[in-house]
Amino acid sequence: MQGALVRRTRACTMVRGWVSCALCVLMLCTSVCASPISRGLPAESVIRKSRTEQAYATLLYGDEFLLGVRVLGKSLRDTGVTKDMVALVSDGVSDGGIRLLEADGWIVERIELLANPNSKRPTRFWGVYTKLKIFNMTDYRRVVYLDADTIVTRSIEDLFECQGFCANLKHSERLNSGVMVVEPSSRLFEDMISKVQTTYSYTGGDQGFLNSYYVGFADAELFNPDLSPEIRKALPKKMERLSTLYNADVGLFALANKWMVDASELRVIHYTLGPLKPWDWYTAWLLEPVKMWQDIRVTLEENLPGTGQGRDPHTSLITWSLFLIPFLVLCYIKRTFLVQIQKDLFGLLCSGSVFCTYARQLWYKYKPGATLPSYSALAAAIPNGCKHQGCPKDSNVSCRVPKHLGISAISVCFFSLFFSLGLAAFLVPRQVMPWTGLLLTYEWTFFTFFMLFWKYLDHVYSLGRNSATKSLTVAEEIMYSADKLHSKNSVSWDTETCLYGIVTAFVALLIPALPHIVGTTAIFGRAGLMVSGGFLLAIVATYSAEHLATHWFLKGHDDCSH
Ligand SMILES: *[C@@H]1O[C@H](CO)[C@@H](O)[C@H](O)[C@H]1NC(C)=O
Ligand SMILES: *[C@@H]1O[C@H](CO)[C@@H](O)[C@H](O)[C@H]1NC(C)=O
Repeated sequence: MQGALVRRTRACTMVRGWVSCALCVLMLCTSVCASPISRGLPAESVIRKSRTEQAYATLLYGDEFLLGVRVLGKSLRDTGVTKDMVALVSDGVSDGGIRLLEADGWIVERIELLANPNSKRPTRFWGVYTKLKIFNMTDYRRVVYLDADTIVTRSIEDLFECQGFCANLKHSERLNSGVMVVEPSSRLFEDMISKVQTTYSYTGGDQGFLNSYYVGFADAELFNPDLSPEIRKALPKKMERLSTLYNADVGLFALANKWMVDASELRVIHYTLGPLKPWDWYTAWLLEPVKMWQDIRVTLEENLPGTGQGRDPHTSLITWSLFLIPFLVLCYIKRTFLVQIQKDLFGLLCSGSVFCTYARQLWYKYKPGATLPSYSALAAAIPNGCKHQGCPKDSNVSCRVPKHLGISAISVCFFSLFFSLGLAAFLVPRQVMPWTGLLLTYEWTFFTFFMLFWKYLDHVYSLGRNSATKSLTVAEEIMYSADKLHSKNSVSWDTETCLYGIVTAFVALLIPALPHIVGTTAIFGRAGLMVSGGFLLAIVATYSAEHLATHWFLKGHDDCSH
């Protein structure tokens, strides 16, 4: 019996070893195989010092959007820009971030934040009025402004032909300030600033302000890049409307699960869907278009040490530590596991010899053909068998599982599940690659859950053992407790535990794989499938938790009362 246990424990240890190896190889692959093919300094045209009349501009409030601006810059360069790329950065951006942007080819201009005059506004809008400062970039005749959460998929140089103020109309006839063409002028800028306090803003931010400032924008004519320059000059225009191609909204994609316009004609993709930003690893598993963003991200060159593919050395260090810590802890625990296995083996040999002695006694006592004593009689006859060391010699307690055990097991299981998921979500850096994020989240969720639930099962096991001691006298109990300290058996990987563990882990692994198995790309389809997967996991986890708790309670009870 114990031999089998030891063998199973070993099998489990081996399986775990292989799983660690596989994870290791995967991690190495994601970091090594995908290392940048071409390293080197940015092309000479990028470090151009002389200023052009027109420029692309973006705004960066903090390091959180740095990767977004880097990817936007890369996508712009890939379409062959001939104009300056200017990044207006506020003091929330670190020096390292600024160096990185400059190495990427951006002209960095530091600006101060414009305070948001609206008291009723979302907290994330504290500095959005700063965007108005692009109207003050008077070094340039015309500026194409792009939000940090956009990428350019085809050349947009024709946008510089747009006259006056140009933007794209979104839902309910509002202009979206994510992509704009503006003609900077200090007069215009000062006029705007003077009206900021008194103009109504429906968003509580710059977009609402611009909607109020450019009255009648919804009636503006559609910008047609194919018009000849002569005709264009003849049309005096204050504003022009941009087609959706110049500001294709990922939120719109999510609704219809396709681009409403010819996908091959798309110029600018704008990742606006609430808090789902393309640099957060999990969005790649939800939103199909994030793949295009990630494809550009992996081509980011290593301009400063360790920055290729949009990595940053600090995050890489955290990622590797997070990856290794569970294995180190498991190694440490495995050491005590090994001690346990050794003990088990020793116990086995020991009880084997006792059994041999007893068998020899039996041989003399009973002649062949006589009825053999029942198991309990046999057990009682073994004087201080090693296995039973620390247990009461005889405890007459019917094996009754406490009523609350099932409920407590399920509660502990779900608490552990949510706690480990929360911890993983808190620990895993958000801007890692999608696969790294997924693997790390799994690793930490499984690891934390395993530790917590293991401890609980251990507790249930000793409850079971204790329940077998209820009928002892006080003196015996003290002796028993003292004994128990010396020889503490604990929960191990027996068949049942392995089976339930593997089935539950399998279902957990299945959840994010479901949409890919079914082949759904719609965000609602994906979310729906994952929720269903979550329900399945809840059912399996409930069942497993209850059964394992009962199993280990009875096991604890049996280990003592036999
Ligand atoms: C606007 O630009 C001018 C000239 O470039 C500069 O002197 C001024 O400080 C700017 N205003 C603000 C509010 O940034
Ligand atoms: C065992 O305990 C039950 C009650 O729990 C009692 O009725 C029975 O007599 C006990 N038997 C022995 C052998 O002590």
